[in-house]
Amino acid sequence: MEQELEFLKKRRSIRRYKTEQISEQQLHDLEEMATLAASAMNEQAWFFVVIQKPEILQELAELSGRSNPFYSAPTLVVAFARNEAVSSVVDTAFAMSNMMNAAVADGLGTCFINVMKDVFNDPRHSELKAACGVPAGFECIGSLAVGYPDEIRTVPTDRRWDVFSYIR
Ligand SMILES: Cc1cc2nc3c(=O)[nH]c(=O)nc-3n(C[C@H](O)[C@H](O)[C@H](O)COP(=O)(O)O)c2cc1C
Repeated sequence: MEQELEFLKKRRSIRRYKTEQISEQQLHDLEEMATLAASAMNEQAWFFVVIQKPEILQELAELSGRSNPFYSAPTLVVAFARNEAVSSVVDTAFAMSNMMNAAVADGLGTCFINVMKDVFNDPRHSELKAACGVPAGFECIGSLAVGYPDEIRTVPTDRRWDVFSYIR
C-alpha cells in the first residue's frame, strides 16, 4: 500500500516533453483507466479525442493564440462532457485524473491544458468538434498533454493543509 501511495505522489504537471511518441499500449492504458473512473449513475458522460497528428496539433496551437500551449507534447487528449447528464464535468474530470495517474505508472508525464476549452467551445470554430468525431451535445472541459517527460519534477509545489475541518 505504501508503494502505491508513493507512486501516486509522483504525479506532477510536466511542461517539457521528449519528441518520441507514446506507444499504443500506453495509450490503451490511459484509455482503460479513463473508462474505469467513477461517474454519476454510471453515465460515463465523457468523450475524448486523441490527437497525435503534428499538423493538427499545430493548427490547434495557432487557434489558441498561444505560442506553445501543449509544451510540444506529442499527444493531446481533448476531453468533452455531455451536456444532458447528471454530473458530466465531474465524471470527465475524474476520468482525466485517472489518465494522469495511469501515465505515471507508464513512465509518462501529463499536464492539464485549459485553453483547448476556449478553442473547442468557441462558436467561431463550431465545425471543429464534429470534424474531430465528437458527438452532438458535448462541451469541451479541457485537455491533457501527454508524453515522455523531459524534465524531472518530483517535489510538489506548495500545498495547502488548511482545507480540512474535523467533526469526530
Ligand atoms: C483545471 C486545471 C487547469 C489547468 N490548466 C493548466 C494550463 O492551462 N497550463 C498549465 O501549464 N497547467 C495547467 N494546470 C496544471 C496546474 O498548474 C498544476 O496542476 C498545479 O500547479 C499543481 O502542480 P502539479 O500538477 O505539478 O502538482 C491545470 C490544472 C488543472 C486541474
